[in-house]
Amino acid sequence: MNRNLDLLNPVIMGDETSMHALFRHLREHDPVTYVEHPDFEPFWSLCKHQDIKYISQNNDSFLNNPRTVLVQRDFEQALREKFGTRNGLETLIHMDNPKHRKLRNVTRDWFKPGPIERLTGDVQAIAKAYVDKMEDMGGECDFVRDIALLYPLRVIMSIIGVAPEEEAMMLKLTQELFGGQDPTQSRGTGVDDGLGVLMDFFSYFTGVVEDRKQNPTDDLASLLANAVVDGEPMETLDQISYFIITATAGHDTTSATIGGGMKALMEHPRELARLRANPELARQAAREMIRWVSPVRHMMRTTTEDVEFRGKTIRAGENLCLWYPSANRDSEAIDDPDTFRIDRDNRNQLAFGYGGHMCLGQHLAVLEVEMFFRELLPRLEFIEPAADPEWVQAIFVGGLKSMPVRYAFR
Ligand code: HEM
Repeated sequence: MNRNLDLLNPVIMGDETSMHALFRHLREHDPVTYVEHPDFEPFWSLCKHQDIKYISQNNDSFLNNPRTVLVQRDFEQALREKFGTRNGLETLIHMDNPKHRKLRNVTRDWFKPGPIERLTGDVQAIAKAYVDKMEDMGGECDFVRDIALLYPLRVIMSIIGVAPEEEAMMLKLTQELFGGQDPTQSRGTGVDDGLGVLMDFFSYFTGVVEDRKQNPTDDLASLLANAVVDGEPMETLDQISYFIITATAGHDTTSATIGGGMKALMEHPRELARLRANPELARQAAREMIRWVSPVRHMMRTTTEDVEFRGKTIRAGENLCLWYPSANRDSEAIDDPDTFRIDRDNRNQLAFGYGGHMCLGQHLAVLEVEMFFRELLPRLEFIEPAADPEWVQAIFVGGLKSMPVRYAFR
């Protein structure tokens, strides 16, 4: 049975059980397959770890531009009319060299492990505030809506210099951008609704750039607002795009990992007990949660030359979709991949991608997840599900929408 159209079904792809069942089937029967759907431009789907890693590390042969993420054909068309390109925005993830390297270099040092480690105290304080909030809620909460969605948002917004009173608006815009296929999260079904979301991001961040040019501080916003590229001030459009990718990539993904990580711990009580008894495992556990959840479902590339994968020829100019959750459950690359093990060696996982575009915020993401569970677990007596969780309907960044839990603090 040909199941490859299910890859474009946000209900199947939103829920971890149906998504992994689909990927298991495709890895076994159709690991490299051409997908033709009435609402999308055709593309090649790649499900094997080895293929995805190879494509990701050959950035000159497999380009990010012009097609970076799967969006419906009519939206792609509208973006082309409005912005002149198929992607609309030109953020780091939509660029190729030499421009990509130059712009990535602007913040590369800022995101390195050393400087990120220096944020530990601040991240820990925000983690503590959200664990306190959970305690104050008195034994029942929606772990996703009340905690997991808000904590990483506060972290990334404080890093890019967005005021706390504007966070709710940023959360809504990000959900509208990533949850565009989920009727409870999207602004509306029309093309204008999607464009409206982008325009709102633009107008907000234009204000931030202007402010930091006048009043620079030591935050990331000031670094971007005053950045110099090739001896010239960075283009305004590049600055705004940088803000958008950092703001959006920087919290939904981490929220999804904390929500999905909590779910995995509840489903694996021995791992939960082990982590509580050995807080020094928290960093490894964070990496395992990131592999387990793999919140970024895909990225795309366009091949510059004819290539062959598993007997299928992909022609120059065709688009390839790389499915990270599938790579991370591929038993040819990951030992016993369907087992959640907090002390696993996760060097080979691909949740952050690989190669020249590998996630810029990966050290920050790990720190956030680690700090949250380090703070929560020693204070927690027990935790259990209070109702069935709900998933965001998504084919790009996925995760839980709601997860009611019951718990007691010590
Ligand atoms: C668990 C959390 C996260 C996951 C799973 C994740 C995953 C990814 C993936 C798969 C890519 C594309 C890599 C590729 O094409 O090879 C990416 C790129 C990126 N991520 Fe993350 N990410 C996370 C958190 C963050 C955070 C906290 C930030 C903070 C700023 C961030 C910023 C970025 C940026 C700027 C890019 C574009 C890099 C480029 O194209 O050069 N991400 N991320």
